Amino acid sequence: MIPAAFDYVRARDVDDAIRLLREHGEDANVLAGGHAVTTIEGLGDATSLHPMQEAFWLAHGLQCGYCTTGMIVSAVDLLARRPDPSDAEIRAGLDGNLCRCTGYQNIVAAVRAAAAAMRANEPRRSVADVLAATANAP
Ligand code: FES
Repeated sequence: MIPAAFDYVRARDVDDAIRLLREHGEDANVLAGGHAVTTIEGLGDATSLHPMQEAFWLAHGLQCGYCTTGMIVSAVDLLARRPDPSDAEIRAGLDGNLCRCTGYQNIVAAVRAAAAAMRANEPRRSVADVLAATANAP
């Protein structure tokens, strides 16, 4: 049973918010004190990639993938606040997310590409759409 709204105090930290989300699903935003928690799964899926997911894929913004969920979620948050960030603002927005593989150049390029796609309001594509569009690319 989920208690009435605002019976809970704000989540103590991200781990606490994620625990609430796991326990209570979509109602966790109420339990987290009115704040919504969006995980990587909430951004998109194979049938409807978020532009940031597609950009990380196409710009080779990941290698092993260990850091990728944090990078993508942080980048989406950055673009919600700064739709056209400079490279320096992208790097600052991703501060605290460590990648041991990519050297960050492709991550910054991916965020820049996603920002352009989002400003242009490009439609979301599926994994199948992206594979078909890139199948004959050099
Ligand atoms: S892609 Fe491997 S740690 Fe970032």
